[in-house]
Amino acid sequence: MKKVKIAILGFGNVGTGVWKILLENKKEIMKRSNYEIEVAKILIKDINKKRDIIVSKEILTDNIDDIINDESIKIVVELIGGCDDAKEYMIRVMKAKKHIVTANKLVIANWSDELFKIAEKEKVLFYYEASVAGGIPIIREINESLTANRIQQIIGIINGTTNYILSKMTNDGISFDEALKEAQEKGYAEADPTSDVDGYDAVYKLAIMASLSFGTKINHDAIYREGIRNISSLDIKYAKKFGYTIKLLAIAKEESNKLELRVHPTLVPTIHPMANVNDVFNSIMIKGNAVGELMLYGRGAGDLPTGSAVVGDIISILRNNVKPSDVSDASEQSNLKEIKKSEENESKFYIRLNINNKVGVLRDVAKVFAENNISIISVTEDVRHDDYAPLAFITHKSSEKNIKNSLEKIKWLENINKIESIIRIESFN
Ligand code: NDP
Ligand code: HSE
Repeated sequence: MKKVKIAILGFGNVGTGVWKILLENKKEIMKRSNYEIEVAKILIKDINKKRDIIVSKEILTDNIDDIINDESIKIVVELIGGCDDAKEYMIRVMKAKKHIVTANKLVIANWSDELFKIAEKEKVLFYYEASVAGGIPIIREINESLTANRIQQIIGIINGTTNYILSKMTNDGISFDEALKEAQEKGYAEADPTSDVDGYDAVYKLAIMASLSFGTKINHDAIYREGIRNISSLDIKYAKKFGYTIKLLAIAKEESNKLELRVHPTLVPTIHPMANVNDVFNSIMIKGNAVGELMLYGRGAGDLPTGSAVVGDIISILRNNVKPSDVSDASEQSNLKEIKKSEENESKFYIRLNINNKVGVLRDVAKVFAENNISIISVTEDVRHDDYAPLAFITHKSSEKNIKNSLEKIKWLENINKIESIIRIESFN
């Protein structure tokens, strides 16, 4: 049996997951890769930190040079996260002619062009399956299984932390803060959870998937983004009443060579399978012009699911069945596509107002909507308080521009205290 030495940069949630899988599935991995894998070095930040998994002192290092300068190490797995050090280490690793596996969407979404070019120049492989949707093999699906298709649409729940929070708020009635704490304890959240909660993590993942799917380089700054911080238990309750569940969706659609790209909380019909993707699970629906609709489902975060994707990439490198150019698809696309402005997008909307408890308010609001060509499907008014009441609407499909113009007028109507929530509705057609 041939032997290969690898190094792991980072021994946190995912790094330890990779270690456990290499140990637990050693026999299967040997059989499938034809190699016995030895973890020769593990890079960590704090050498004195107490760790749940004990590894020999010779393996642990806090100096990247111990890995770069070790010619016997052939593959390096980057799992430290963040951007500056991670990017610098990956470049140095490739220049030292070692293959790279990473789970770092932040680096891929920002610098894939530069990194893939270096990989090509240095003739090393660069794999990043775990960077999108944890254990779901979505990158291979797009790059290999679906290459016969023109991809028309991707709709996904691609952040485990926010899906965990929304599921717990919806199904168990716990608060946002409690649910976030649980997600952090389970190792789902990023080191800085604002990246999850404010939608940045999903934006990076959508940029990676959409670049590969639509054959164009997508700058993640061009993706419309809203996080879940403002979702209240009242919105969850009203959404249920109207027959919907609130999810953070990442949406990419191509129509007439124009791309619609957005990440935001969305009302999903409760009977749709996406509404029933709970906890840390992710799900991605892809529509291709040949295959039609396809739906993938699995754990989007966590040590072993993410480790599964990382170790799968290591085995692929050992089998060496993909040429470097096959994984650099996105960087080769010079065909830039136009991205629609968010005002051009259309959907149904859920809107919740806080109004004074007076006669005629509903009539005044409906009048403004009508003037802006927006028709209302349903209205619900719940418990009236002595002097105020919540009022929620579902509209027919309308342009974001018309909704924005209406709300700008509604805000100034007599007896409107506040526009509390505006959430888009996805109809999946
Ligand atoms: P953790 O914070 O749990 O672990 C980070 C590890 O990297 C720690 O061992 C830390 O060392 C080490 N480290 C951090 N910075 C440095 C540095 N500058 N130099 C050397 N070592 C460093 O992160 P995760 O395992 O959760 O995430 C790792 C990567 O995987 C990220 O890119 C993340 O986005 C991605 N990912 C994470 C998923 C998850 O479920 N957690 C799922 C999919 C992708 P020390 O132990 O000494 O502190
Ligand atoms: N923080 C990320 C999530 C990890 O919650 O989905 C997986 O990329």
